[in-house]
Amino acid sequence: MNMSPLSSVAIGSTGGKAAPLMLLHLLLCAVFMSCYSDETITIGVSQCSEDIWRYKQNHELQVGCYAHNDVKLEFACAEDDDLKQIEQINYFISKKVDALIVAPNSAVPLSEVIEKACDSGIPVICFDRKPSTDKYTAFMGADNYEIGRTMGNLIANSMGGEGTLVEIRGLKGSSPATDRHRGFSEALARHPGIRVISCGEDNWTEASGSKAMEAVLQQTYDIQCVFGHNDRLAMGARQVALAHGLTGIRYFGVDALPSSGGGIELVQKGILEATYIYPTHGLELFQLAMNIVKGREYKRVNMLHSAVVDSTNAELLLMQYQELSRVSDNVDVLHGMLATYFERINTQRNVIICFICVLLIIMGLSIQAYRLYLAKVRVYEEVTSEVVVPLSLDTPHPDVPDSFLDRFRNVLREHIQDADFNVERMGEEMGMSRVQLYRKLKSLTGATPVELLRKARLSRGKQLLESTDRSISEIAYEVGFTSPSYFAKCFKDEFMMTPGEVRQGESCNV
Ligand code: FRU
Repeated sequence: MNMSPLSSVAIGSTGGKAAPLMLLHLLLCAVFMSCYSDETITIGVSQCSEDIWRYKQNHELQVGCYAHNDVKLEFACAEDDDLKQIEQINYFISKKVDALIVAPNSAVPLSEVIEKACDSGIPVICFDRKPSTDKYTAFMGADNYEIGRTMGNLIANSMGGEGTLVEIRGLKGSSPATDRHRGFSEALARHPGIRVISCGEDNWTEASGSKAMEAVLQQTYDIQCVFGHNDRLAMGARQVALAHGLTGIRYFGVDALPSSGGGIELVQKGILEATYIYPTHGLELFQLAMNIVKGREYKRVNMLHSAVVDSTNAELLLMQYQELSRVSDNVDVLHGMLATYFERINTQRNVIICFICVLLIIMGLSIQAYRLYLAKVRVYEEVTSEVVVPLSLDTPHPDVPDSFLDRFRNVLREHIQDADFNVERMGEEMGMSRVQLYRKLKSLTGATPVELLRKARLSRGKQLLESTDRSISEIAYEVGFTSPSYFAKCFKDEFMMTPGEVRQGESCNV
């Protein structure tokens, strides 16, 4: 194909127009991608209950997360309801969390959904309570059998091997209740002089402890000790016993929470005889989950060790805890400050990014507008000057259909001497309405048909002034002006000089 020089420029110029826009586009994409790359790790935490033990653990998990900007913890609480917890775990599965930390409310009902999470590729970390299946990634928790056994021996020894002991069990089917009961029963089997009344099993709340004790008191008031599978059960039983006027009973529990109203304080005040620390260890739990998510080495079974709290160590433990909570409070304050600081930096960064984007868009638009303007000016010049220089008529323009402008130039050329030639007739010659012609020329050249006609007449006039010795008046009529003085005025407006000045020396009396 034979390409004219202009058409090859046209290809080049199309590329030139696209290049800065493409660059702008790439730049904007890069800016947005660098700001909003979504690589957050989400860890779902499915808690079976809501109580001070869980609050403490959730807080520790959150503190563990402080150092990881890219990790988000999402908590759910099943309020001791198996079905609710299954639903919540299903939600985490559908959300495709990166890991699931779960304390299964009861072992058997929760196993299926835990297996489902594993099958869908989500690492599952069970803690505190175990499901009945072995299909999970890792476990972290205390040895509940050992806790039951230790407390059983401790209580039996403190009773001198005789008397009545009430055991109030935790939620039936939950692994800590099963294991604590097993350990406790084994220990008590070696003390046949002690009569054990075992009851409870509703759940782990104080109310459940009260309900169980109420039932026991229907049978007997002759009770020396009560072992609650947790401190709250023991406290619920105590409330009922006191209401019945029984003051000499000694109470034992499990959990030993260090916060106000928790087991350690109850021991220190002599309300509980002893309790066993049931470790929350949220920091370690978070770390275990992170090791798994990040593909680092980890242990599948992580047993937590702790100890009995009684009147000999309760005070000391409380003091240590108070010290630790001061440090932890400071960590919280520092984290809050850092969060505010980063938020402010983020806002500033976003404002700057927006500003740069707007600037780039404006630049892009300006470049495009300027190019458009230049294109119009070029067409305008070509249309008007090529009327004068017919040789260049066969030069096509890159951005417009050749035939239209060629035809228009010819029409102008043919009628340039005709003073009566107007837009109406121009339209007729071009085979379109006045309005259509006006719109088309305006969009191609930026000028109206009248302006183009005048510019063509003036350019031709200038050419004649320069190349002939005809008088200015003659030339004015020849290029379609009805009055030489009007020709001179338009000429001056267009070329910033009078026709006489062009002639240089010829006196101009128009
Ligand atoms: C907290 C709790 C503790 C108990 C543990 C058993 O939700 O009820 O009091 O020791 O769960 O899983």
